[in-house]
Amino acid sequence: MPDVRPLAADEVRAAHTLFRAALHRGPMSADQWAFSGRSFEPGRTLGAFVDGRMVGTALAWSSDLVVPGGATLPMAAVTRVGVRTDFRRRGVLRALMREQVDDVAERGEVFAGLHATEPVIYGRFGYGVGTRALRVAARGARLLPSVPTGGAVRVVDPGFPGLPGIYDRARRSRVGSIARPPEWWVNYERAWGVNENLVVAVHSGDDGDDGFVAWRPSETADPTDTTTLAVEDFVAATPAVAYALWEFLLGIDLVSCVRAFMRPLDESLTVAVPDPRTVSIEDVVDDLWLRLVDVPAALGARVYGDADPVVVEVADPFRPGNDGCYRITPDKAERCDDAPAVSVGVEVLAMLYFGAWSWSSLAEAGRVTVDDPAALAHLDRLFALERPAFCGTYF
Ligand SMILES: CC(C)(COP(=O)(O)OP(=O)(O)OC[C@H]1O[C@@H](n2cnc3c(N)ncnc32)[C@H](O)[C@@H]1OP(=O)(O)O)[C@@H](O)C(=O)NCCC(=O)NCCS
Repeated sequence: MPDVRPLAADEVRAAHTLFRAALHRGPMSADQWAFSGRSFEPGRTLGAFVDGRMVGTALAWSSDLVVPGGATLPMAAVTRVGVRTDFRRRGVLRALMREQVDDVAERGEVFAGLHATEPVIYGRFGYGVGTRALRVAARGARLLPSVPTGGAVRVVDPGFPGLPGIYDRARRSRVGSIARPPEWWVNYERAWGVNENLVVAVHSGDDGDDGFVAWRPSETADPTDTTTLAVEDFVAATPAVAYALWEFLLGIDLVSCVRAFMRPLDESLTVAVPDPRTVSIEDVVDDLWLRLVDVPAALGARVYGDADPVVVEVADPFRPGNDGCYRITPDKAERCDDAPAVSVGVEVLAMLYFGAWSWSSLAEAGRVTVDDPAALAHLDRLFALERPAFCGTYF
């Protein structure tokens, strides 16, 4: 069993090198590290040690999450998880996850969230796909003149200091969005500082700057093709700002394809162009993997739709304090001793929390144990959202 402990400041570079090796990447250069060394929140990078040697690592940033109804609750943003190739399948990750989720709970964080490199790993630790996103590619597309856009777009340095403020204002209206900690923004500072060919354009409207996109141009091997713009970050306060940024991207010369890796499920670029075949929805990808660390607090913080009350049983083998029955009504959700109508694992509850799936569809797939089939329609209405949740921040 490895020993797991928070790393001191002078140990995080070794942890980062270990993490990069787990993803088959080499160590960072001194120039890159001059920036990335600042992307670690003190006390939140864990190391797992066997015989005094670091064999695994995982970190968290302090963040928060907008839940249905608009409340913002503390969340740990988990990332940079890696185990040495020669120490795998011996419980190192399990030991890191154990320590981390206990720490998250002690800090009073209601949720943990991550983006999974390998989807099969995190369900056993209570994570489920909380939000989904579209991967969109546009080739030769132009917006219809009737699409509401407006405002002006200008290219800025990736180090432009206004980006965090634009993000903070824009994200408030979207359930599922997270706070980007200062350590996250170091990505932009590094891209600017070591010239990683990240291009950023900011949109401004009547109330000032209200959106931006960041992309990397990649040349293709095909000489008849030109360039693909890989859009890594796309932030817009309103749909009209998003379409204005799309209009800008689609108008850039010498570009064969604009590919955005994460767009909200309710963005309808396909119907905003004259020829819908110029826009491909290439994939529906998992966006934020959610872990309800404090189930009573998470269920109690969100609003619910109008339907009959339902009692749900939750099982959380990795954090048994969450086990039990919860009565969910249009007004509140709280623990109870009543018999449940349905039972779920906490990782399935994470998939239902933001309505990424309906209770009925997960019951059909065998992910919900149903004692009272009539409860499913009520749960579908209780958990339904007007707009799909969307995180849209990769970490
Ligand atoms: C993924 C990774 C962190 C797992 O670490 P590990 O120490 O080998 O995992 P553990 O031994 O603690 O395994 C925990 C459980 O996950 C399972 N598991 C681990 N990696 C798995 C994989 N790649 N595929 C399927 N199952 C896996 C184990 O079988 C074990 O299952 P159990 O709960 O039934 O016993 C490690 O393989 C790694 O560093 N991979 C490359 C980097 C990476 O993918 N990082 C994740 C970034 S999100």
